[in-house]
Amino acid sequence: MDKNKIKRKYNEKIRNLVKLNKYYYDLSKPLVNDHEYDQIKEEILSLEKKYIFLESENSPSKIVGFKPSKTFKKVSHRVPMLSLSNAFSEEDLINFEKKINNFLGQKSSNQLEYSAEPKIDGISASLTYQKGKFVMGLSRGDGKEGEDITQNLKTINDIPKEILIKDFPTDIDVRGEVFIGNKDFEKIKDKFANPRNAASGSLRQKNPNDTKKIPLKFIAYTFGYEKGMKAKKQNEYLKKLEEWGFKTNPFNKTLQGVQNLMTNYYELEKKRGEIDFDIDGIVYKIDNFDLQKRLGNVANSPRWAIAHKFSANKGVSKILNIDIQVGRTGALTPVAKINPINIGGVVVSNATLHNEDEIIRKDIRINDTVVVERAGDVIPHVVSVDTKKRRKESKKFIFPKKCPCGYETIKEYNKITKKFDAVRRCPDRGFDCDRMAKERLKHFVSKEGFNIEGFGKKIVENFWDLKLIRLPQDIFNLNYKKIESLDGWGKQSVANLRYSIDEKKNISFEKFVYALGIRHIGFENAKLIAKTLKNPEKFLNLSKENKIDDLLNIDGIGETQITSLKKFFSNKTNLKVIQDLQKILNIKKIKENKNDGVFSEKIFMFTGKLTGMSRAEAKSLIEKNSGTIISNVSKKLDYLIIGEKPTKRKIEAAKELKIKIIDQSGLNKLLDKSS
Ligand code: IVH
Repeated sequence: MDKNKIKRKYNEKIRNLVKLNKYYYDLSKPLVNDHEYDQIKEEILSLEKKYIFLESENSPSKIVGFKPSKTFKKVSHRVPMLSLSNAFSEEDLINFEKKINNFLGQKSSNQLEYSAEPKIDGISASLTYQKGKFVMGLSRGDGKEGEDITQNLKTINDIPKEILIKDFPTDIDVRGEVFIGNKDFEKIKDKFANPRNAASGSLRQKNPNDTKKIPLKFIAYTFGYEKGMKAKKQNEYLKKLEEWGFKTNPFNKTLQGVQNLMTNYYELEKKRGEIDFDIDGIVYKIDNFDLQKRLGNVANSPRWAIAHKFSANKGVSKILNIDIQVGRTGALTPVAKINPINIGGVVVSNATLHNEDEIIRKDIRINDTVVVERAGDVIPHVVSVDTKKRRKESKKFIFPKKCPCGYETIKEYNKITKKFDAVRRCPDRGFDCDRMAKERLKHFVSKEGFNIEGFGKKIVENFWDLKLIRLPQDIFNLNYKKIESLDGWGKQSVANLRYSIDEKKNISFEKFVYALGIRHIGFENAKLIAKTLKNPEKFLNLSKENKIDDLLNIDGIGETQITSLKKFFSNKTNLKVIQDLQKILNIKKIKENKNDGVFSEKIFMFTGKLTGMSRAEAKSLIEKNSGTIISNVSKKLDYLIIGEKPTKRKIEAAKELKIKIIDQSGLNKLLDKSS
């Protein structure tokens, strides 16, 4: 058979499969039985094996396991599902404990009580029980909004469907991890890349019967919303979970102080291979719920918990070449292309060399034999060079002074450290540097930015190469006809893409600011800016009205951010990007806060050290009561709160403006009124 004939035959089979999928997943009206369906899939796979030139995005080889359906209802979590920050060493844990003690205004030697729970590498789920009945189960989603996967969760034996025990809360979201045991995974491993994928794929099936085929397990470990819960500590809650019929992790422990956490960590790391599920570390949670409440959250993770990742895995390989990658902010990062090696189950072929100084310090050269380390989710990096294995003719690596875009690079001078940066940068010229522009587009569509389904980094690369996109606004003016004619695309996939892009034309103000990728404006700063300006129009007018300096009043925004914003707004292309986007998008205004706390519309500022409470805790208390904190004395200020050793200049300035000056007991009095 000639090549074209084979291709035609193959494409026909793929079209047939797409049709069957549509009837099965989207319309829930299967055209063939499971056996026939599997046979069609097999035929496609065996054709691909025989003729390597065959390829299709709709092939079962591209879609790992079952095709996940996109039609689940989205539901908001009553309490957001947060993520955890990571610790990799004893030092990280000591710092973690120190920070907590600081926040709580306790001595740093105070040894805290923790619940230490193995961190299962699965998929988290939130199960709502009302009056004892399992009424709804959600996936984590983006943490704020999950997908309603109730029917699929119901197929899991470990999840109780009804709990008739007296002290079970009347309304509660029980949260935990859905996973697949390693032994069970063995049986289906040719269908999925790893156990985590298997769990995730099967949880997102349209048809619960497909979920049922995979032996999923569930371990409970926390809760979201609750009404009627009596437990005062995490370890009490874990015990209760068992009484109520949930499975909990048999290796959970309650421990005090960092030393004991370390001992437990080493013990568990040794046992890791014998346990029937994958664990990638240990989660430590402050055991006492009252303390957890006081500690609250930072950004997306609680202050009261941390994930201690298992130690790095290392391997030896050879550097084949050194590539220079350019990041979104122009930083030139050298990356070693290495002979692929398997480190802890992951094939590694790139390892970062961080920056020019690091290469000089370690004298890293092409063809060197090096030790590469991969720790948790962190990008693998080169740890050391085996100079004994180096050939005589080996030459030092000369770091390029030019960006691959052709522009001269610079090393910035840091006013605070009085040193030049280790990082070499392509100076920010808006979207002029091809490399930076591409990275900025990737950032634009990233998860915390526009998060356009089906429009990831690969598509950015692909569309960039095809000159379909150059600036963010191009994403909303794509030539869909052209895309439809591209290899691997079809009518349906283009329609899906169009739908997900159009869907994101409604965007929150903070996501919009973040997505622009302004240097030093991460998600937290973007939120602060949006919250302060409220109206997106004002953002565009910042530069016109010379108002950027006003942002310095926001607690959390400093000189670095202001300088960066000024630079951003001084670039014509950047301004055009914002103007064009504002025409295309519906950027949502920030709604006025309910502002019903006692400090509504009141503005505070601190100077000096507080006692028994850190400034961070005081800040979060004031914000909980709808107050605002600023960092400079101005007319707007209502109260200047003074602690130990205040800055005299600030007090003088406040006096001049006739601002109320109170000490900590004054603040406490105000707060007492609020509770
Ligand atoms: S508590 C706010 N406990 O780790 C606390 N999480 O990065 C977050 N995980 O998405 C959840 N074992 O999937 C908690 N014993 C445990 C856990 C655990 C695994 C996962 C969970 C979460 C992720 C946080």
